[in-house]
Amino acid sequence: MLTAREVKPGIWWVGGIDWNERMFHGYTTEAGITYNAYLIMDEKVTLIDTVKAKFADELLQRISQIVDPSKIDVVITNHVEMDHSGSLPRIHEVAPNAEIYASAPAGVKEVAAHFGIDVKGVKTGDSISIGKRTLTFVTTSMVHWPDNMVTYCPEDKILFSNDAFGQHYATSKHFDVENDLCETMRQARKYYANIVQPYQRQARKALDAVKGLDLEVIAPSHGIIWTKHIPDILDTYTEWTSGEVKEKALVVYDTMWESTGKMAKAICEAFVEEGVPARYIDLKHLHQSDIMTDFLDTKYVCVGSPTLNSQMLPTVASFLTYMKGLSPNNKQRVGLAFGSYGWAPVGPKNVGKELEAAGFQLPVDTVTCNWIPSQEYLDNLQATVREMIEKSE
Ligand code: FEO
Repeated sequence: MLTAREVKPGIWWVGGIDWNERMFHGYTTEAGITYNAYLIMDEKVTLIDTVKAKFADELLQRISQIVDPSKIDVVITNHVEMDHSGSLPRIHEVAPNAEIYASAPAGVKEVAAHFGIDVKGVKTGDSISIGKRTLTFVTTSMVHWPDNMVTYCPEDKILFSNDAFGQHYATSKHFDVENDLCETMRQARKYYANIVQPYQRQARKALDAVKGLDLEVIAPSHGIIWTKHIPDILDTYTEWTSGEVKEKALVVYDTMWESTGKMAKAICEAFVEEGVPARYIDLKHLHQSDIMTDFLDTKYVCVGSPTLNSQMLPTVASFLTYMKGLSPNNKQRVGLAFGSYGWAPVGPKNVGKELEAAGFQLPVDTVTCNWIPSQEYLDNLQATVREMIEKSE
């Protein structure tokens, strides 16, 4: 029998643990995923969110430990993405008279489009009574779908924050105090960088709304539940949503015969010599979602590719596409394109065009090297990096 876990008296975690999932639309989930759903035992038995469809039995088993699932009176759908709503049809089947609430108008339309189920719409400031408790809704549109909202229960000072403040982190230890804070924060950062980052402005607005609440628990729909470390995650989100960058560098490249690799190493060393922490990343060995975790607050982003068949290498093109989607506005960042070529410098030049299109400052031109870089060439390349740092101060 699968167990439910009490979050506060009368409020239970009844979600699913996806221990072996390793990919969430393009993002590597090396620590697995949880889909958190919460059951509130009040005069109206209330379920906050559901789980991915294949975990519906797990959800129902955990609920059954507390109450017969057919007794559910109210379902809150904070977000229609199917990792949270995939089991809504099963719950609707088991408890057909339960009232279902979603944000209006986006959530209502999305539930109808996904499942053909009619639901009631709520807006920011709306509340419902479920007995001794009240549930108040705050829409958080585009964090990170149009329909997102969060649900607050003032009597228990608990915020059901859905994707916000979540982490992809499968664990049977559901609370922050039971886990290593560094690891939880690392996973929260990876989650923010790969899911929430493009909607920074909207996330800041949502954060401001949340900061005004009296909070004892933040219960997200992924990963661990925040209690003791609520100030830490709120402060960290304040920093991330500020969009501020630090004096740090990423040198991201792929290479065929090590010419572009040698350029990358020289660039990386030039930053280090100037006192700027730098990472040297071969795209063959680190997934782009891990690179984005670092990218979040990095000022200098240097991207290298040789020319292959009149193009950049596909690994580099993939990274640039992923990066542009997650970070459409890079005016605070400084870019450098570089790479080697045999007979036409098309690969590195195209990298430069992509960085320009992504809004990077480009204080120096794309650096290209015909065939193999000499030591003198690499020394000059390092001087170019120093020039770039000086020009961007
Ligand atoms: Fe966890 Fe946007 O779904």
